[in-house]
Amino acid sequence: MSVRRSVVAGTGAYLPEKIVTNADLAKIVDTSDEWVLERTGIAERRMVADGETTSDLAVKAAEAAMAAAGVTGEDIDLIVLATTTPDYTFPATATQVQHRIGMTRGAAFDVQAVCSGFIYALNVADNFIKVGQANTVLVIGAETMSRLLDWTDRTTCVLFGDGAGALVLKAGEGDGTSADRGVLSSHLYSDGRLRELLYVDGGPSTTQSTGHLRMQGKEVFKHAVTNISGAITAALDANNLKPDDVAWFVPHQANKRILDATARKIGLKPESVVMTVAKHGNTSAASIPLALHEAVADGRVKRNDLVLLEAMGGGFTWGSSLIRW
Ligand code: UT7
Repeated sequence: MSVRRSVVAGTGAYLPEKIVTNADLAKIVDTSDEWVLERTGIAERRMVADGETTSDLAVKAAEAAMAAAGVTGEDIDLIVLATTTPDYTFPATATQVQHRIGMTRGAAFDVQAVCSGFIYALNVADNFIKVGQANTVLVIGAETMSRLLDWTDRTTCVLFGDGAGALVLKAGEGDGTSADRGVLSSHLYSDGRLRELLYVDGGPSTTQSTGHLRMQGKEVFKHAVTNISGAITAALDANNLKPDDVAWFVPHQANKRILDATARKIGLKPESVVMTVAKHGNTSAASIPLALHEAVADGRVKRNDLVLLEAMGGGFTWGSSLIRW
């Protein structure tokens, strides 16, 4: 049986120039390099310059992904951009990217699922391709998390970073089996009852201000390992695959301890885990495409490799995706 598949044609990423180390943060809050490294695996993160916006990062990542895929703005039918730190409440950041990459047709919109945003955006893009509504889609995760942080709260401000990653999906054909190239499946979940554990205390309809990120880290940690493991098991089961079949595990990068615990629980090979949290921190919706691009650019991810993605974030939202590269 011939089926439409969304095949990855190119990846790209962009990180702002400024590096902020744990020692830099220890000058503004009561923390230490030792605490942050030991509890999270984060050594440094990037931070945007004054005036640099989410769409600035997104455009650079998108241009790199389009160059890798050999397409221009005129070839793109749709942009799905995941962010929780848009340039403006409206219009969608995706439409600003659309304008700046020379795309004058098609559609562009944002997806808001916080740290799971890229998994959600990828699923939306895949469905547009599968039903034949688009052939070439730009999927972007871009964040300026530094603008949402309370820089007096040491329990959150040491965890996050800024950056953007993107990929181009192109319509392809497959047999409908897990040997096909492209997105094999996506599993999305949310549970609005747990809002208080991870949220922003502002917004246009409540405080008419942007607000700051608030998190009960220990509680989020407990839910993260359970939820992520469930989403991974669902992905493998849906495709009749085993943990050993996964060539590369590219998780949302929140905390090295969460990733290690998840890989151990599922039985994923430790050498298959792509880990960028040490240098990027938690870049929310940007973390998966940033990590993915790094593993593609350095030659780890090769054609036909099975790549497993997962994320968990505010909402709660969580999910997984399996891609045959
Ligand atoms: O991407 C969205 C999903 N988010 C996540 O997955 C985050 C999940 N949570 C985590 O990654 C971890 O829970 C944290 C890294 C946030 C915290 O690690 P923890 O091992 O759970 O530490 P804790 O919150 O239990 O705090 C332990 C101690 C506390 O002191 P007391 O109460 O034991 O005296 C904190 O006040 O560490 C203290 N602490 C700090 N100390 C130095 C909290 N933040 C800091 C800090 N520097 N930055």
